[in-house]
Amino acid sequence: MNNKNFEWLDFFDCFNCKKKLELCDPTEATVFCKECRQEFILTESGLPIIIKDIKPIKEEIETRGKDKEYWFNDDQVQKMLEGAWRHVFKQRCEYWKEILSKKLSDESVIMDFGCGDGANFSILKTLPHKKLIGFDYNLLRLEKAKKYEGSAEYLVMGNIFEDLLKEQSFDMIFCNHVVEHIEDDQKILDLFYKYLKPGGELFLGVPNEGSVICTIRDKAIQPGLREKTDHVNFYTAKTISELVQNSKFENIKTKNLGFVFPHTFIDKKLKSFKPTHDLLSMTAEKLFKSQSDSIYLSANKQS
Ligand SMILES: C[S@@+](CC[C@H](N)C(=O)[O-])C[C@H]1O[C@@H](n2cnc3c(N)ncnc32)[C@H](O)[C@@H]1O
Ligand SMILES: [Zn+2]
Repeated sequence: MNNKNFEWLDFFDCFNCKKKLELCDPTEATVFCKECRQEFILTESGLPIIIKDIKPIKEEIETRGKDKEYWFNDDQVQKMLEGAWRHVFKQRCEYWKEILSKKLSDESVIMDFGCGDGANFSILKTLPHKKLIGFDYNLLRLEKAKKYEGSAEYLVMGNIFEDLLKEQSFDMIFCNHVVEHIEDDQKILDLFYKYLKPGGELFLGVPNEGSVICTIRDKAIQPGLREKTDHVNFYTAKTISELVQNSKFENIKTKNLGFVFPHTFIDKKLKSFKPTHDLLSMTAEKLFKSQSDSIYLSANKQS
């Protein structure tokens, strides 16, 4: 990890004076804005904290972590690679790796928004790019991401709603399984539009939980399931496309991937065996595409 070279500063304006954040008297623990001397803290491991008000984030993470402690403490990446979801994870990664490899070049600057533990870095890093930045507001998860060898070149802790990233900074924003957690999803998409360079690429992954099969599962077969997740948005390919279109994106394309069995216990079992996973995925793709497990969407900002 390379945070010590401070190149991550390129992506931010100072939240105090709004000028480009420039390096001035860096110490082991802080960086100062050259213009106004606003202080920015670095964690012990060198992670920059670019946030105006850390208190509400800390409180939110602590509260949410209380009833879902495993979510914060478990090794999510290891779980994805080795647990029951490994075939799903592999299928998704293979899909987006192929799509993204055609869209990126050695000059591409990529942001993985809501990178969490960095589950997607090991693949993003193998794709053509110039810089890869991981951005998330959960320090615990970012510190875990930092430990992985294949981690992003730059990791920054911040809250996207503070709108501190610089306009037109990225060629691609990659955002996997984040917007379904966020109340004001339209605002996030507007910000993505702002932070992309003209012609830049948005690549989103979301669960297809607005499908008929998931709605029946959540309302009739396993009522109360929705209250147990921290998802607040339940999309279909149509509803997520509309949202992206409302934020002025163009050239919107979606792909439905995987299958869902309408009971989470059986679904997990079927997905954990490669033959059933592959067979049901293939069948779903041919016959019940709209009832898939996830949706991937790509779109462009106007050139
Ligand atoms: C379900 S996780 C997805 C992690 C990763 N993208 C993946 O594919 O495994 C959602 C992530 O979004 C982050 N997040 C949610 N709201 C955020 C915000 N306002 N600013 C920054 N990060 C946010 C959370 O901290 C969490 O790590
Ligand atoms: Zn300043």
